[in-house]
Amino acid sequence: MIAADLSFDREQLLEKIGAAMSEKRFRHVLGVEEAALELARQYGCDERKASLAALLHDYAKEVADQVFLDLIDQYQLGEDLKVWGNNIWHGLVGAYKIKQDFGLEDQEILQAIQRHTVGAAQMTLLDKIIYVADYIEPNRDFPQVKEARRLAKVSLEQAVAFETAHTVAYLAQKGVPIYPQTIETYNSYIRYLNN
Ligand SMILES: [Fe+2]
Ligand SMILES: [Fe+2]
Repeated sequence: MIAADLSFDREQLLEKIGAAMSEKRFRHVLGVEEAALELARQYGCDERKASLAALLHDYAKEVADQVFLDLIDQYQLGEDLKVWGNNIWHGLVGAYKIKQDFGLEDQEILQAIQRHTVGAAQMTLLDKIIYVADYIEPNRDFPQVKEARRLAKVSLEQAVAFETAHTVAYLAQKGVPIYPQTIETYNSYIRYLNN
């Protein structure tokens, strides 16, 4: 097992992460690390934690549904979680797989990975950095990304609010359910955009 603590061997870690996903996703992961490191420097976050959380955040994105369902049972995460899908599971439940596969015990990093898609009402600096970096990394290309990148330089809270507002609007427009924690994130952070 590769020890994914803060003294991790980068080459070994990248090899294992790369083997778990497509090349395109691996490029995204490296982009998230780049964006996360930039934010960590700007906002004074531990760069090693930002790097490790970024590199691992989508490790479970290509894992089969049954693996998540089994993990939900194993860790007694609640039957309610089973009605969701990969988009929600790969972070919230994926963190347990990362803990198992890498022996990663750092709760701050695991929490940031868990929250990278859904956020939380009260996010730590590391949570916010990974949440925002995932959205603005250099490979991202969608109409609002320039504004999201601009806001990230001004205020992480505004960037969280902007990203969440767009995610909620996008999901509502598609007519799909929105995970309650995403709504909590929206309710908690939207005020930052309006003042
Ligand atoms: Fe993700
Ligand atoms: Fe991602």
